[in-house]
Amino acid sequence: MNIDRLLEVMKGTPLESWVPVLEGQIKQGLSEESFGKLPEWQKAIDKLPIIQVSNIDLNKGAITVESSKSLSATEHDALKETLKQLMPWRKGPYDLHGVTINTEWRSDYKWERLKSLIKPLAGKTILDVGCGNGYHSWRMKGMGADLVIGIDPSALFVMQFQAVKHFIGDENVFVLPLGIESVPDNLQAFDTVFSMGVLYHRRSAIDHLYQLRSCLKPGGELVLETLVIKGDENQVLVPEDRYAQMRNVWFIPSSAAMLVWLKRCGFKNIKLVDESYTTLDEQRATEWMQYHSLENYLDAEDQSKTIEGYPAPLRAIFTAEAP
Ligand SMILES: C[S@@+](CC[C@H](N)C(=O)[O-])C[C@H]1O[C@@H](n2cnc3c(N)ncnc32)[C@H](O)[C@@H]1O
Repeated sequence: MNIDRLLEVMKGTPLESWVPVLEGQIKQGLSEESFGKLPEWQKAIDKLPIIQVSNIDLNKGAITVESSKSLSATEHDALKETLKQLMPWRKGPYDLHGVTINTEWRSDYKWERLKSLIKPLAGKTILDVGCGNGYHSWRMKGMGADLVIGIDPSALFVMQFQAVKHFIGDENVFVLPLGIESVPDNLQAFDTVFSMGVLYHRRSAIDHLYQLRSCLKPGGELVLETLVIKGDENQVLVPEDRYAQMRNVWFIPSSAAMLVWLKRCGFKNIKLVDESYTTLDEQRATEWMQYHSLENYLDAEDQSKTIEGYPAPLRAIFTAEAP
């Protein structure tokens, strides 16, 4: 992964203190020992055709790249086949030269829920923690962000991002193979930090909030999206084992409890801006993600419960300012 441009952009900014360790972190994050399929994924990316682009739209539900001349049926099928080598595609959708990647998640629904409720992103430096393949990172760029750094420890998602970036080109949008724990403490470098779908995967939820705070400039905005339960400020679900078949789910607070946690961590101007149940239209198996999905994780008799008997997935979005 070539990050020369990113290193260049970071120089002379508050991100500069990250530069000396970043290359080593990326090398480790994309190591073949951890991800045996990396050479296969890289081969798929190397096979992607170079196509003259006439239009890029980062503000549509499906992130779209078009060329003035459509692909022939053979070229279309070959591109589809190559992109399928990077399955499962979970976050999207994308429309790349007529190949529609109908992902497991309609990630555009989440973006629609939050985009008018956050501070403007134009000209801003953004961190997207747990960005998956970078779908929302592109949407942030679409809202005018100057620089978007997404981080995700899944090498497959980083490679999917590389495939999309191959067509979109070299904008100031990056997805790095890192977890939040790799971001240096007290960076205070970002105008907005997104943490969406990550908090419940952290064994220490409060430490996660402190880490997010330390990435933000004073007065910068946190956009936090996470699973919640209905209940008062003293209610938090800690699943005994799996939650909706996910193994690594630790804390699912009520929205009221989450507001208290954010306050305890020093955030100001804290708002709960949305609460929505995940629908079977938003998360489902598709041609591009053929494993089980939400439908299989809900109780077949009573869809208000997961198959483990917990409340069905309810997700909330909070905004807050760093002190
Ligand atoms: C549920 S997905 C959310 C993706 C995207 N942010 C969204 O809202 O659609 C959670 C993502 O967090 C990533 N993740 C897991 N542990 C992480 C960590 N320690 N730091 C950053 N990301 C992490 C996972 O690889 C996964 O892609």
